[in-house]
Amino acid sequence: PRITYIQPDGTEQCVEVADGVSVMHAALASGVSGILAECGGAASCATCHVYVDAAFSERVGPCGEDEDAMLDCTASARTSLSRLSCQIEMSDELDGLIVHLPEAQA
Ligand code: FES
Repeated sequence: PRITYIQPDGTEQCVEVADGVSVMHAALASGVSGILAECGGAASCATCHVYVDAAFSERVGPCGEDEDAMLDCTASARTSLSRLSCQIEMSDELDGLIVHLPEAQA
């Protein structure tokens, strides 16, 4: 599946990833800037915050309980589209996913 990352300045990067890879790991592995992921994917740092494109929000589904709590600690404002990218696992169902990077992670 593919993921498109859009930076706050509008720069887009499209990345092809394997099934089961998180949106956070895919960004780090591909040199996409704007994701710090300080906790390494444990839903306990909120520095992998992204805004899921509205067109994909339903397919991505609701966030988990730990994730929900951490999303109150994001550096950029939380919105209804906010997710922790380490908690979004890629699959064919999410092919073409678009996520927007926030202005700041810390
Ligand atoms: Fe820390 Fe996602 S990497 S919450």
